[in-house]
Amino acid sequence: MIVDCDPGHDDAVALIVAARHAELLGVTTVAGNAPITATTRNARIILDMIGSTVPLHQGAERPLVAPPRHAEYVHGESGLDGAELLEPSGPADSTNAVEFIIETCRKTEGVWLVPTGPLTNIALALRAAPDLAKRIAGISLMGGGTFGNRSAAAEFNIWADPEAAAMVFDYGGPLKMCGLDVTHRLQATPERIAKVRALPGHMAAVLADLFDFFSKVYVSRHDNMRGGAVHDPCAVMVLTHPELFTARPHHVTVETSGALTTGMTLIDMRGLIERLAPNCDVTWEVDADAAFSVIVDSIAAFSR
Ligand code: BDR
Ligand code: CA
Repeated sequence: MIVDCDPGHDDAVALIVAARHAELLGVTTVAGNAPITATTRNARIILDMIGSTVPLHQGAERPLVAPPRHAEYVHGESGLDGAELLEPSGPADSTNAVEFIIETCRKTEGVWLVPTGPLTNIALALRAAPDLAKRIAGISLMGGGTFGNRSAAAEFNIWADPEAAAMVFDYGGPLKMCGLDVTHRLQATPERIAKVRALPGHMAAVLADLFDFFSKVYVSRHDNMRGGAVHDPCAVMVLTHPELFTARPHHVTVETSGALTTGMTLIDMRGLIERLAPNCDVTWEVDADAAFSVIVDSIAAFSR
């Protein structure tokens, strides 16, 4: 897989799970939670932390149409606030993420693209290379849901670049979506964070600090959450550990021009016999304890 991300606390965890449980061909970055220089820097820091030398390529610095807007209110100004992180070992290998995605998917059959940020790079790759739609195994994304977080209707990744998201939901190949309906079921509760903190090694302590920061933000902003929603690893684990998730096929479209609903994923849940063919496997349920154990084990594998 290629993970296309905007680290981001939960993106960082997604990278660690991907490095542990998938054949990670490379990492690409996109502006989202923080500006592109910060998300790329953060991706390099995480790859350094796990000793990964996979290619890292920087991508889009802004959405296709929407203005660049970030999520410092969740992830802090750096995109990865809350822990003492080492300086990155170097910059990205290039600023051509889209080219890297295209070349890798042409060279290797059956790649999964796993976007965990706004869908700008993926949309640009599909537009520049329409053949990818048939070459890749599919796209497994974190985004959307029947409710929003950035607005009442829209989840952040889709809201940040709705035009790109609309292109991706329309691309015609296998598509898996882990939206807020499932990711809010996987919360980094104090008990779960304690399991990370109990692991040996410096990296586990850093991850526990990151979880603490992220969870404090969520708990302070919601009246019914016991920890941060661990969104992005779901898009990885739905591929590496499908038995932990329940999904159903639906037709999903993205609202790009609503007065109140821009960035909403409209999931057709009507039980009509005559309905639009599904274009997306929507994930609804997760075995949260088992999924968090996968996360803890993945961190343990790299922490020393
Ligand atoms: C998504 O937005 C970001 O804050 C997270 O990294 C996740 O990808 C959740 O809405
Ligand atoms: Ca993200």
